[in-house]
Amino acid sequence: MQNPNNRLIGQTCLVTGSSSGIGQAVAKSMASEGANIIINYNNNKQGAEETAHDISKQPLAGSVIIQQADVSDEISVKKMYKNALDKFKYIDVCVLNAGIQKDAPLHEMSLEDWNKVINVNLTGQFLCARESLNHFMKVGIRKGVSLSAGKIIHMSSVHDIIPWSGHANYAAAKGGLTMLMQSICQGYAQYKIRCNSIAPGATRTNINKDVWSSKQGLKDMLKLIPYNEVGEPEQIANVASWLASDESEYINGTTIYVDGGMTCYPGFTTNG
Ligand code: BGC
Repeated sequence: MQNPNNRLIGQTCLVTGSSSGIGQAVAKSMASEGANIIINYNNNKQGAEETAHDISKQPLAGSVIIQQADVSDEISVKKMYKNALDKFKYIDVCVLNAGIQKDAPLHEMSLEDWNKVINVNLTGQFLCARESLNHFMKVGIRKGVSLSAGKIIHMSSVHDIIPWSGHANYAAAKGGLTMLMQSICQGYAQYKIRCNSIAPGATRTNINKDVWSSKQGLKDMLKLIPYNEVGEPEQIANVASWLASDESEYINGTTIYVDGGMTCYPGFTTNG
């Protein structure tokens, strides 16, 4: 369910990893608020085109470009920002969403899988945040467009505070994102730049499809969610659009958990 409020008219939003899942829903939601969208993908070109097609049907949507880039690659990221700025001149919102999982018990995890996840999920967000900050500082507040000089939204996870054995590379990257996000807030709020994280819980996307698509997997997953429902990408996207808008202007350096209560440790309801 999208919630168009015209809150991003005249703004341009870059959403990394918007060829599927949460990123795709965020791109569509921000477009429904009137934004121009830079759709980024790494491998899934078809998914990116699907996002663009869905956006083209929205009455308020601005313009769209599709940019291929591997967010863990410095040159690729710089090229994406340059192309986006050549087209739109300004970027107002950066949703650093691209992420992967490469799961294994830690004692069996290859260095390659460790590095891959840290490179995409943590270093990738650093590389994009750095480009965003330089642009935001150069441009400053765009009067009549937004009250802030730029907004960075890190897509984190409940696993920035819930340990996840068997996925330690992922949890370490997400834990690291909290300090990256807060350090950015601390250093750059003086420029009226806002930086926050959204931490989704179990959300129905391809990343965890093998769990929620099996009967037993779904049952086990629901035991972890007090609200007793798997989240939908649109529920995350609605929060992202609000967090990008001036309605949330004074929120800075915060992580918003959108998780149906997963971080309230439901295992303790009648135990402990
Ligand atoms: C992971 C999902 C998982 C969820 C809750 C997310 O960050 O990507 O695979 O279902 O956290 O555990």
